[in-house]
Amino acid sequence: MYRVRFGDGYGAAMNDTKGASTADRTVPRDPSRFEDRFAARATGIKSSAMRDLMSLSERPEIISLAGGFPDTESFPAEVYEEVWRAVASDHRASSLQYGPTEGLVELREAICRLMAEDGMIAQPDGVLVTAGGQQAIALAIRTFIDPGDIVIAEGPTYPGAVPTLTTYQARVIHIPIDSHGMSIDLLEEQLDLLAAQGQKPKLIYTIPNFHNPGGVTMARHRRERLVALAADRDVLLVEDNPYGPVRYEGESLPSLWELDGGAGGVIYLSTFSKILAPGMRIGWVAAPAPILRKMNLGKQAIDLCSSTMSQRFILEYLRRIDWREHVGRLNAIYRSRRDAMLAALDQHFPGEATWTRPEGGLFVWATLPEYIDTGELLARAIERHQVAFVPGEAAFLDGQGRNSMRLNFSGAREDVIAEGVARIGAAIEAMIDLQRALGGGR
Ligand SMILES: Cc1ncc(COP(=O)(O)O)c(C=O)c1O
Repeated sequence: MYRVRFGDGYGAAMNDTKGASTADRTVPRDPSRFEDRFAARATGIKSSAMRDLMSLSERPEIISLAGGFPDTESFPAEVYEEVWRAVASDHRASSLQYGPTEGLVELREAICRLMAEDGMIAQPDGVLVTAGGQQAIALAIRTFIDPGDIVIAEGPTYPGAVPTLTTYQARVIHIPIDSHGMSIDLLEEQLDLLAAQGQKPKLIYTIPNFHNPGGVTMARHRRERLVALAADRDVLLVEDNPYGPVRYEGESLPSLWELDGGAGGVIYLSTFSKILAPGMRIGWVAAPAPILRKMNLGKQAIDLCSSTMSQRFILEYLRRIDWREHVGRLNAIYRSRRDAMLAALDQHFPGEATWTRPEGGLFVWATLPEYIDTGELLARAIERHQVAFVPGEAAFLDGQGRNSMRLNFSGAREDVIAEGVARIGAAIEAMIDLQRALGGGR
């Protein structure tokens, strides 16, 4: 498996301690001696392949289409300086101080205004500021999931949610997606099946806009059906929406939060990572008050409060800058990069492959012939072609996705994307040739 090979390479470098005396102390005498002491939640945790792969992008010879990096180069230097200067002069002491667990009230008010611009009604008391969207997911899961509890998620689902779901030992049932998002027919069938066994999921976790990694957007009629179905079956929806404003084609669709109309059936998660910068590590949750109180306690246990410095930066940024203008600039960049990726896929991927055509977000999801294992392909692609992507299996908890891959187009220039896709195409062709030589495949 690619992760082992990758780890081996790094392990070899790290263990090369010839002549090093102090470094020896950091290498356990017997690494296995900790095994029987780890908590079950630490033993069962499955790494996000995405995190493992991120360090690859630092190796200059590798073209990485694996990460999910927004473009931060385009953030104007003068704005960055101006905003920090304002934080330093007007909020020096408070930005260096602890803040309330729920987040600064001015920021929660600003978040409510952002949500209102997209048709969502929320009150500052109903918002919890988090350390990125990732912490919002973790808080939602830890608030509801005991070991063995059922979570429904799209298949594929966000690879970064995989370690969270395994940490809390959720039993995840995937519902397939197509070009209109999660299949609500299959969801309904699954809910019926579970009900017949006397079971019910605790949560339905979904990414309706520009799915990561699927690249698809849930159609309006499916959103309406999903909200109605979840209400009918009394199952909470967790709507993860980091990419809503990152749309460069087509019309915005109502969020599940909006469609729920304040009925309390949706926990809404979002983040400043994609509309401002992931380095801020600021996201948020909007949820009914009793849920938010529990999540607040969970956050107290983890980190007391999110960075007040980042919160102040965001407030000063929002005060000075039309954030939609910045997102508009980003969207123009991403659109052009997406087009470059789609053109390169047309040119370099085999006829049997299919891929999504996202109207926004950062990712394309490609599906290859069934006999190609993208974990093996990744090892070959890194070793022989110096290119990386996220293998599909990283987006499932049940071993599916072996012939799929996630490709990121936001983090590289058009020419680099074209070259990266060409290299992956060459790696695929080599695997197809091998398969043919062995008498299988096409
Ligand atoms: C679907 C989804 N949810 C959550 C996150 C986490 O966002 P953040 O960087 O704000 O932690 C990401 C990041 O890529 C994402 O794609």
